[in-house]
Amino acid sequence: MTAAVPLDSLTPLARSPLHIVRPRFPRTEQFLDAFEKALETGQVTNNSRWVVEFETRLSEYLGVPTLVFCNGQIGMMAMLRAAGITGGEVIVPAFTFSATPHAVKWVGAEPVFADILDDMTMRLDPDDVERRITDRTVAILAVDAYGVASDYASLARLAERYKLKFLVDSAPSFGTRVNGQLVGGCADAQMFSFHATKAFATMEGGCVCTHDTELLARVKAIRNFGQVEGADCHEPGLNGKMLEISAIIGLEQLKTFEQSIATRRHAVERMRIGLSRIPGLLVGQEPAGVQTNWLYLPVVVDAREFGMDRDTLASALEKNNVFVRKYYSPPCHHLTAYNTQREVNLAVTERVAYNVIALPVYNDMTGEECDLIVAAIQYARRSALGGTTHQSQNRT
Ligand SMILES: Cc1ncc(COP(=O)(O)O)c(C=O)c1O
Repeated sequence: MTAAVPLDSLTPLARSPLHIVRPRFPRTEQFLDAFEKALETGQVTNNSRWVVEFETRLSEYLGVPTLVFCNGQIGMMAMLRAAGITGGEVIVPAFTFSATPHAVKWVGAEPVFADILDDMTMRLDPDDVERRITDRTVAILAVDAYGVASDYASLARLAERYKLKFLVDSAPSFGTRVNGQLVGGCADAQMFSFHATKAFATMEGGCVCTHDTELLARVKAIRNFGQVEGADCHEPGLNGKMLEISAIIGLEQLKTFEQSIATRRHAVERMRIGLSRIPGLLVGQEPAGVQTNWLYLPVVVDAREFGMDRDTLASALEKNNVFVRKYYSPPCHHLTAYNTQREVNLAVTERVAYNVIALPVYNDMTGEECDLIVAAIQYARRSALGGTTHQSQNRT
């Protein structure tokens, strides 16, 4: 990685835009043969050669039996239903993408929102989960926000104590490790998204992982309209099959993925050092023993100390060609679809959600890009303070 960029070189037209994501796909010549073969034989879907191979490779890589899906959302619905969730209450964080409570609703259950921990890891708070358990609760559905692994151990203990299913929406966390082991087999079941925005992307796609053979068989049937042997259906299924082209791309992506994760982690460490010199910013943390893939780097803005609020900062960054997102804002309990829970007390969630920006992290991010993002934030702050603050004075 290169040396820091001087602040004065930061002008809006000096460089190309840094968007929130920069998906990187293999070159067509790397997978054209396989794709042509799929087209020639007509085997482009219905769990043909490449999907089966991709599933095998993923199961080996993650160390847990894995079934691939057309996308993460459908995978999550299949996972919930296969775990027996068709009614009752499921405890989920409100600090997540809307897909999480939506999946719960789609299988016929009610999402009950719980708060996150106040430690900048954005993980579901096990104590708050416990407070919200009732005799209607059937499951805990944690979320690995930004790729940070949830507190699997505490949540699993809680689930066991209250005889609940413990499932994880790991959509963002493919490639994250806990104590050196890739996440995937850490709960009753976990699912990942391979959407183009994710660190590991197959355009659209996803998977469900579980060590529970019964649950796995049920996920498999649900993925294919509910069909079991002999074309009978024991329950209503859906069409969750992955296209062969996505599997072909996924097989290529796997070859370079470990390098991508290393680059993402280096980028975050570099931005973290730069951001630590700027007053008024709280940067996302990972718990001890967790090696996060960092889908994005969350930064919570303390408007008073920083000198401008989150929304103004986001607009200022945009003018300097840095496009951040306000994930996850608004929090899910403030979405119209979940209005009945608008007034629930989720103090940490609300403080974080309305003050957070997600900074871009790419599979091929350069040191210069990291420095530009930090410099753009410093520049915005200097401007807010009247442009009088000299660069060196910012280094507290
Ligand atoms: C937390 C979370 N859950 C679920 C999903 C849904 O995944 P997909 O887009 O693959 O359907 C996403 C997607 O962005 C997500 O961020």
